[in-house]
Amino acid sequence: MQAVSNRVRAAADSFEPIRQFYFHSRYADRRGEPDICDFTFGNPHEVPLPGLVEAIRHHAVPQNKDWFAYKASEPEPQGFLAERLAQELSLPFEPADIALTNGAMAAIAVAFQLLLDGGEEALFSTPAWFCYEPMLLAADAVPIKVRLKGERFDLDLAAIEQAISPRTRLVIINTPHNPTGRIYSRDQLIALADLLDRASERVGRRIFLLSDEPYRRIRFDGHVFVSPAAVYPWTLISYSYGKVLLAPGQRLGYLALSPLMPSADKQALQDSLFAAQMALGWCFPNAIMQYALPDLEGLSIDMHALSAKRARMTDGLERAGYEVLGPEGTFYLFCKYPGGDGGPYWDALADRDVFVMPGHVMDVPGHFRISLTASELMIERSLPVFAEASRAIQTERQAAE
Ligand SMILES: Cc1ncc(COP(=O)(O)O)c(C=O)c1O
Repeated sequence: MQAVSNRVRAAADSFEPIRQFYFHSRYADRRGEPDICDFTFGNPHEVPLPGLVEAIRHHAVPQNKDWFAYKASEPEPQGFLAERLAQELSLPFEPADIALTNGAMAAIAVAFQLLLDGGEEALFSTPAWFCYEPMLLAADAVPIKVRLKGERFDLDLAAIEQAISPRTRLVIINTPHNPTGRIYSRDQLIALADLLDRASERVGRRIFLLSDEPYRRIRFDGHVFVSPAAVYPWTLISYSYGKVLLAPGQRLGYLALSPLMPSADKQALQDSLFAAQMALGWCFPNAIMQYALPDLEGLSIDMHALSAKRARMTDGLERAGYEVLGPEGTFYLFCKYPGGDGGPYWDALADRDVFVMPGHVMDVPGHFRISLTASELMIERSLPVFAEASRAIQTERQAAE
């Protein structure tokens, strides 16, 4: 008899490449060393935002006996968020549309819990963030993957339509997109909404959309963001403060229902949010983060500095022969090695103390992802190394021919 459930074993299999990379790889051996250039995960490599520290410190001081009592979605942050989200997304949110969660991951898990029965299908495009698949498997749902198309990794609407079956209950859209940095336009989202309407009619039941948008405020060059919640009424939004504050260890986020959702469906979901969050193991942010939320709402990583890093890194990588898909949003650069298998490049970079997120963990072995949350010093130190590694591999390959 096996000790571990089938659901968790399936999730573990799906997580395996990233687990190996994090715990049992050359990166795992070196992670944390002061002299490496670490471009792997979206972790901070510089001191936290002073406003974040101040807000946490301030709200840690109890003001009444209930300060650290159980906190579900508290009315103050719900009301505050309904107002702010209404301004930001031009949609009439009400407080009950918003479930406070400990980050976007919890919001996503709550959405799965709310919408999916065992064996139902949820569809997402790849390459993708590496947690959708294992989280779906752990929820006893069936992940269906559709490739993004072309050199610019566009949504493949025809392929999505084809992949929808009578068991499809949910489609996940991530915009701005990790790892490609793409932001989907209003026109693309309208076409997706039309498709989902048609498909829902075809299969005889409503297909919901999860809009995973934790990078929503991290955008470059004036790129406009449209939430799918504004064009498809059956949308749930997952959001995290972990990205914009660059503090993913201080868990705070939410799941928000589109105000455009027909009232019967919306009411049913609103009424079940608490049960879903509680049954999953109290998926609410801790008390201090809920009190701090209004102070955190206006804070952001320095977008000017991030844009400068993006420009410097893109220029350096392109000069060294790597292809960079200019990101419209997120703090990632999605890059392609100069040619052939990415493995030798990854090794050549690691030999020289530079660590990138290998494409194989996202099913794109010829690509890699750079997190621009690295320090400026890491960027400057790494650029000659990217060039040198590329030259070394080309020389080796020519010698072998
Ligand atoms: C696309 C995407 N969704 C959700 C998350 C989860 O965010 P958090 O850890 O802040 O909950 C991440 C984090 O990397 C992400 O990249």
